[in-house]
Amino acid sequence: MSILDITALRADTPACHNIIHFNNAGASLMPAPVYEAVLSHLALEQEIGGYEAAAHAQDKFDSLYTNLAGLLNAAPSEIAFIENASRAWHMAVYGIDFKPGDRVLTHISEYASNYLALLQLKKNKGIEIDFIPSDSTGQIDVDAITPLITPRTKLIAVTHVPSQGGLVNPAAEIGQAAKTHNLIYVLDACQSVGQMPVDVQSIGCDILMGTGRKFLRGPRGTGFLYVSRRVLEQIEPPFIDLQAANWTADHDYTLQPNARRFETWERHIAGQIGLARAAEYALGIGLGTIKLQIDQLSQLMRAELAALNGVKVHDLGSNPCGIITFTHNKIAATDIVKTMNHHHINISSVQLKNARLDLDMRNIPALARASVHYYNTEDEVRQFIDIVKKL
Ligand SMILES: Cc1ncc(COP(=O)(O)O)c(C=O)c1O
Repeated sequence: MSILDITALRADTPACHNIIHFNNAGASLMPAPVYEAVLSHLALEQEIGGYEAAAHAQDKFDSLYTNLAGLLNAAPSEIAFIENASRAWHMAVYGIDFKPGDRVLTHISEYASNYLALLQLKKNKGIEIDFIPSDSTGQIDVDAITPLITPRTKLIAVTHVPSQGGLVNPAAEIGQAAKTHNLIYVLDACQSVGQMPVDVQSIGCDILMGTGRKFLRGPRGTGFLYVSRRVLEQIEPPFIDLQAANWTADHDYTLQPNARRFETWERHIAGQIGLARAAEYALGIGLGTIKLQIDQLSQLMRAELAALNGVKVHDLGSNPCGIITFTHNKIAATDIVKTMNHHHINISSVQLKNARLDLDMRNIPALARASVHYYNTEDEVRQFIDIVKKL
């Protein structure tokens, strides 16, 4: 029995009639109100002009800041609209004043693009990277953080829910450790926002980023950055434009007094309006309820997969979320994806290049990844399992 009105939610998601979408960790299906918000703004641009349409839609456009602030329990002034989560992460972390020998704590589950950026900072700025070990369940071992901290440790950069499985890292406990040691704490919440409650106050992170297209069900090419007032002045945006700064005199400027200093002026206005609507839509359902529904479906899928001969489920952590990863002893992950697509079921795969440190450590060349959302059903899970059985 579902706790949500799934029929109504599916009616808002027309593709549910044609496909089974288990690629919500890639990009979820947009609900009709989000799609309409984007399209109606594009129509207005075509009708009256891009700048004129933006002026006309100022309230809808500005509602992004209040809606995301509501979703994250932040202040609207702490939110920036950025085109994707990777660029949001870069705008904050490349803005930290690293000196050679400064140290960053991370974990093998860190998102690939974030880790690549840390490698570049190591090469160009001389930072050192330390890895927090995993506990026996595979999640970040919070007790192992304190012994790793040196006088040069400046930042903890970790991913809440990695792309490569159901792991949910203990974000709030990590926040406690960051606070105790007065470190800047950057949390990649790309896969968790929209899937579960994410509250920046109870987590205690200073910086957090997410993307529109995943569990939040927003349009592609949209993302956001949260930078708390506490650390705003410690981070210099690596690039500035007329949005980020005010040109106050011929040879002088001031940065915006809030997170808008990380934005650029030109942007996908229709996308921003769509993302604002997506945040409102998620808030309307309730993140606690969304999480419960996703937990029910993912537990069913994991249990059914684990019971099949030749199939192994690989999700780590004490309370895995809506991302389910598995391997088959005879069929490659990419072939499983192809077979599913043939049956109009969308899933994806995780390759070594997406999560090299983690997959190398576990000796897994690739994973098949199915990710459920609240608009999926138990019947869809069973149809999917029937096909895995026949692989
Ligand atoms: C955990 C995680 N972080 C960051 C990203 C990057 O998001 P974007 O593609 O919006 O830059 C992804 C995308 O898959 C992700 O799964």
